Amino acid sequence: MTQSTQNEIQWWQSGVVYQIYPRSFKDTTGNGIGDLEGIIARLDYLNDGKADRKAEGPPSSLGVEALWLSPFFPSPGADFGYDVSNYVDVDSIFGDLATFDRLVSEAHKRGIKIIIDYVPNHSSDQHPWFQESRLNKHNAKRNWYIWHDPKPDGSPPNKWGSVFGGPAWTLDEETRQYYLHQFLKEQPEFNWREAEVKKALFDVLRFWMDRGVDGFRMDVIGMLLKDPELRDNPHNPSADPGLPDFNAYERVIHQYNEDLDEVHQILRDFRALTDQYPDRCLIGEVWYELPRWIMYYGKNGDELHLPFNFRLMDLPWDARAFRKSVDELDAAVPDFGWPNYVLGNHDRRRLASRIGLAQARVAAMLLLTLRGTPTLYYGDELGMNNGEITLENMQDPQGFRLGLDRSRDTGRTPMQWNSGTYAGFSAVEPWLPVPQDFQERNVELQDADPSSMLNLYRQLLRYRRMTPALNQGSYRSIDVDREGCYVYVREHAQGARLLALNFVDEPRNISIPAMDRGRVILSTHMDRVGSVLLSDLDLRPNEGVIIEVNV
Ligand code: NOJ
Repeated sequence: MTQSTQNEIQWWQSGVVYQIYPRSFKDTTGNGIGDLEGIIARLDYLNDGKADRKAEGPPSSLGVEALWLSPFFPSPGADFGYDVSNYVDVDSIFGDLATFDRLVSEAHKRGIKIIIDYVPNHSSDQHPWFQESRLNKHNAKRNWYIWHDPKPDGSPPNKWGSVFGGPAWTLDEETRQYYLHQFLKEQPEFNWREAEVKKALFDVLRFWMDRGVDGFRMDVIGMLLKDPELRDNPHNPSADPGLPDFNAYERVIHQYNEDLDEVHQILRDFRALTDQYPDRCLIGEVWYELPRWIMYYGKNGDELHLPFNFRLMDLPWDARAFRKSVDELDAAVPDFGWPNYVLGNHDRRRLASRIGLAQARVAAMLLLTLRGTPTLYYGDELGMNNGEITLENMQDPQGFRLGLDRSRDTGRTPMQWNSGTYAGFSAVEPWLPVPQDFQERNVELQDADPSSMLNLYRQLLRYRRMTPALNQGSYRSIDVDREGCYVYVREHAQGARLLALNFVDEPRNISIPAMDRGRVILSTHMDRVGSVLLSDLDLRPNEGVIIEVNV
């Protein structure tokens, strides 16, 4: 794959995005829930804007270039903010618009961009628009949501299921019609075929861009349009035959309820709107197979800047599988597009718990040295583990509906700032329990330990920022004929870097064909630098190295 063909590298290409789940970052009001003031208070941790890009020694700040904030809008909280009851305000739990404006300006002072969540597929059932829509069959907002008569036997219009289990339709007793919701019944879905819906939700984007927001992470963006005939989806032959009726969503191929070809016109319109503002970025939550996923860049690069690439998140920790996934993606992304990689988010179990702590250090090196924009999930830079969630402390509606093992609370626990009460997150008991290991794993301790996970992330981020080969160079993987190792080169006119990652718990000796000597810049063990022979390179168990090479 060639280097970016764009002349100028944009902030969302060379930079690193850090996802904050606001409920869990820092509580300043003493209610056990994080807030915007808490994010402002911790901006210097994220990027103090002073990092000397060439300095030696561990940087004092992480140095991320952008924050993505999960929803902070007014919401009854049925799906913790993904059920919005007012798109143009801040929930009082999190603060107010003035605090948000201060957050944007304090972030911008430090060179941090602000990306916010945008949830256009569904609102809360408490949103005044839906309240009006459900009043009767003939009101001005009836057509803003997807209403349909029951079948003659009274059953729902079709067999579509909700992602969270159960049917995707709920009957409104008053008006005797069903409304569509592919998540909770508290999340009715908009009718994007209605021009007024599009106008209202486009105005929302303008509102936030006018306040200085730099980009949007667009929730389930491929779901905006549904088959006008509401046809049933075909059965998925590879679905687990043991799935109960309740899991109807997981048993079908989603041919008629999402990823319709027509959705791309809306994406182009989103892009045309946001392009009216300079340097804005559109990131979208898109889950489809590669050939369909690629379409979300737009045929001419006129849709999303970054369709989120979740492929690595669901792979086993296996060098061959990772290489295959990256090779395929890197080759598939069109020249006008730009890859991106994600290893953790608020819908998944914690990275360190999934693959192991030693492995998570190698994963950090991988994520921050691939060609493409990395998105980090808060706390992964400490190696935070899954929280211990029980039926008593569970909060996530998905867990209540699909079972404790499907609860997403495990990855949403409070940020571990220090060894004090509630990990320095809050003065009172937090909304989710702090994981038990917080006294061994927190920012304060790791700040003081030069070889901690946190300092590894800081070094990686700084080195990525100052090295064109890493933040914009080309990517090429290399055969090394050693099970468990993944090796690739990033090349740029200003120099090349070789990445050699040992995914296994055993030492490996590798030989890089056609390369002579190189200079180790950084090891995930943080204890070696200097010249190495590339025909005879020793990697310790779970070690990754960045090597400066001539190619
Ligand atoms: C995707 C979000 O990441 C998830 O947390 C949410 O529950 C659904 N979309 C519904 O908005």
